[in-house]
Amino acid sequence: MNRPETVVAAPACQSGFGNEFATEALPGALPVGRNSPQRCPYGLYAEQISGTAFTAPRAENRRTWTYRIRPGALHGPFRRIADRGIVGAFGEAAGVETPPSQLRWSPLPLPDATTDFVDGLFTMGGNGDAASMTGCAVHLYAANRSMRDRFFYDADGELLIVPQQGTLRLLTELGELVVPPLHIAVVPRGVRFRVELPEVDAGGPDADRPGALAAVRGYVCENFGAPLRLPDLGPIGSNGLANPRDFLSPVARYEDREGAFELVAKFQGRLWAADIGHSPLDVVAWHGNHVPYLYDLRRFNTIGSISFDHPDPSIFLVLQSVSDTPGVDTLDFVIFPPRILAAEDTFRPPWFHRNVASEFMGLIHGVYDAKAEGFSPGGASLHNCMSGHGPDAGTFEKASAADTSVAHYVRDTMAFMFETRAVIHPTAQALALPTLQQDYWRCWQGLARHFDPTRR
Ligand SMILES: [Fe+2]
Repeated sequence: MNRPETVVAAPACQSGFGNEFATEALPGALPVGRNSPQRCPYGLYAEQISGTAFTAPRAENRRTWTYRIRPGALHGPFRRIADRGIVGAFGEAAGVETPPSQLRWSPLPLPDATTDFVDGLFTMGGNGDAASMTGCAVHLYAANRSMRDRFFYDADGELLIVPQQGTLRLLTELGELVVPPLHIAVVPRGVRFRVELPEVDAGGPDADRPGALAAVRGYVCENFGAPLRLPDLGPIGSNGLANPRDFLSPVARYEDREGAFELVAKFQGRLWAADIGHSPLDVVAWHGNHVPYLYDLRRFNTIGSISFDHPDPSIFLVLQSVSDTPGVDTLDFVIFPPRILAAEDTFRPPWFHRNVASEFMGLIHGVYDAKAEGFSPGGASLHNCMSGHGPDAGTFEKASAADTSVAHYVRDTMAFMFETRAVIHPTAQALALPTLQQDYWRCWQGLARHFDPTRR
């Protein structure tokens, strides 16, 4: 965050969440009054992409009509390619026993070899599976090469992308999003895209230039279940947490480009590739709500106690993927942003807890207020169902002695959590990483006994 930022021109976007957007890159390219006229303007093909069942209730229904140079069916046959760091099965299904231990990793090293966004995905864990369309996979990524002639889509789920270092330029079928750290982007299931790395490209052979980066790094949650949505607000009212107007979706932008390109698909946990003779990012106009979107995490309206105690961390919920059970989400995306802790006579950091939910955490920027050390930007932790965790010994002692008559400003931080109803099974490769901190358990061993039955 301290390095000069490369200025990447932000493309035009449309504001709102779940809206029926309508956009065209050429005037009149969007048919009026019907979705599939006998002949589309400019000789375009009409193609619908559905993100939910046709008969899903209107409020949950996601679909987009595209008007494109060529239909999505135009490509060669798929062949299996190396999965590299991608793992598609978890826990017993992958022959891996899941430990109840608290787990923490230092940041993933940046790649030496040429690595694009897809090559750079590394699966840390997951639950459920793509075949039954439930659960999620958690990946890290580290990449140093832009995708130009290579395109990707994920049939297994939507991708919630959380950059930690370096800006991603997502060029999708439905337009362009520029995603720096402290922002997130979601690419819906099946939408084709490629990823450019403007700060890496700016460096060229001289990655030490101001603003240039040798590589980018971040986190991805691949949601196999219902598309992410904004939570209901209950007694909070009609404003607060993540506000709909702060979500940005792209406007239509197309590539009319031919060449020997590759279309990579993630399908049923594996990678496949097909030859394609043109850019599939050839949508000239579209309308619908199955769309990529961008959100600046700093716009989150953080809410908390102004008396005593602090509410459950559900107040930090940005997006949720609901399950078949009311109130029990498949996946919650939660952030811990800068905030003011004002509760009196209260232990102010996150308390000690054991939850039915399972928690994968990452740190985007700064310091996380429940840990004195060991949890670095780019690092990760995993606390599964009923595994005890909370502040480390240093944090406990400090917070227990803090003067709670004055407000404490938590600044310069942005942590997040992928929280799931099912246990997140770490992959064998995640458990074998040299960055796995073998001594993480020790951070609680310094918690002293204070109990004295003679002194109330
Ligand atoms: Fe927790």
